[in-house]
Amino acid sequence: MKMLHLLTLVLLAYARMASPESGLAHPTSIFILSGQSNMSGRGGVGRVKWDGIVPPECTSSPSILRLGPKLTWEEAEEPLHADIDLNKTLGVGPGMSFAHTVLAQEPSLGPIGLVPCAIGGTNITEWARGGLLYGDMVRRAKAAVNHGGTIRAILWYQGESDTIIKEDALRYKQRLVKFIQDVRSDLKLPTLPFIQVGLATALGPYIDIVRAAQFGVKLPNVKIVDAKGLPLEWDNVHLNTPAEVKLGQMLAHSFLHDF
Ligand SMILES: *[C@@H]1O[C@H](CO)[C@@H](O)[C@H](O)[C@H]1NC(C)=O
Ligand SMILES: *[C@@H]1O[C@H](CO)[C@@H](O)[C@H](O)[C@H]1NC(C)=O
Ligand SMILES: *[C@@H]1O[C@H](CO)[C@@H](O)[C@H](O)[C@H]1NC(C)=O
Repeated sequence: MKMLHLLTLVLLAYARMASPESGLAHPTSIFILSGQSNMSGRGGVGRVKWDGIVPPECTSSPSILRLGPKLTWEEAEEPLHADIDLNKTLGVGPGMSFAHTVLAQEPSLGPIGLVPCAIGGTNITEWARGGLLYGDMVRRAKAAVNHGGTIRAILWYQGESDTIIKEDALRYKQRLVKFIQDVRSDLKLPTLPFIQVGLATALGPYIDIVRAAQFGVKLPNVKIVDAKGLPLEWDNVHLNTPAEVKLGQMLAHSFLHDF
């Protein structure tokens, strides 16, 4: 009896170490969210602050966790990139609606673990292997599977900042391909699904070149959903909350049906 009790205690201690705080289950399916502000989320951000409105598609759930800045699992809540995309006013992004849609269609994939890594205003050169952003992303991805679970996909919404200078736009495809190959290689997941978001409009004039690059990636297991037609915030710079909800659903649909 005493022995059994001791064993239980040891098991409990181990479970606590390997699992998220407050009795949450450890995630089974893990997704990396990366790129710029539209992935991080600015939906509902006004001139000064976020309106705080969380649509029903983005509510918290014990089945949806996020890897926090200290590499621990916690119940996910909007804004998903809080304390990750620093010094910005954050709002709703696509992550929560993505997770809810995946769970609704494939409950067996839960609990879901989201690993927010997107940083607003970044260009693809800054995401190259060897840089800080890349290093943080890979470190967070590895920490996410430290105690189990499987990385199922990378969701990538980036390229807006590479539409400003023609040289950057022209090099985008080569840099993106290298980025995908490097991440897959460093995570030792050579066929990891990679879902990008096709830019609708952009910050600079060379959007067509970057879009062509995005749609022209010929690597296996790279898919794309198109942001064209999604509504923007008052600032004309970011997707609004309904657009982010829709985008999350599009990403989920791609993940569930394109691979
Ligand atoms: C955010 O702001 C703090 C305080 O002003 C500063 O020390 C830090 O470097 C900033 N971080 C980023 C990523 O801009
Ligand atoms: C991309 O980022 C790098 C590093 O911060 C910077 O040197 C370069 O000017 C940036 N390019 C654009 C178009 O912002
Ligand atoms: C956000 O996405 C929209 C739609 O693709 C695009 O028009 C806009 O330039 C993006 N904003 C930023 C800051 O990247």
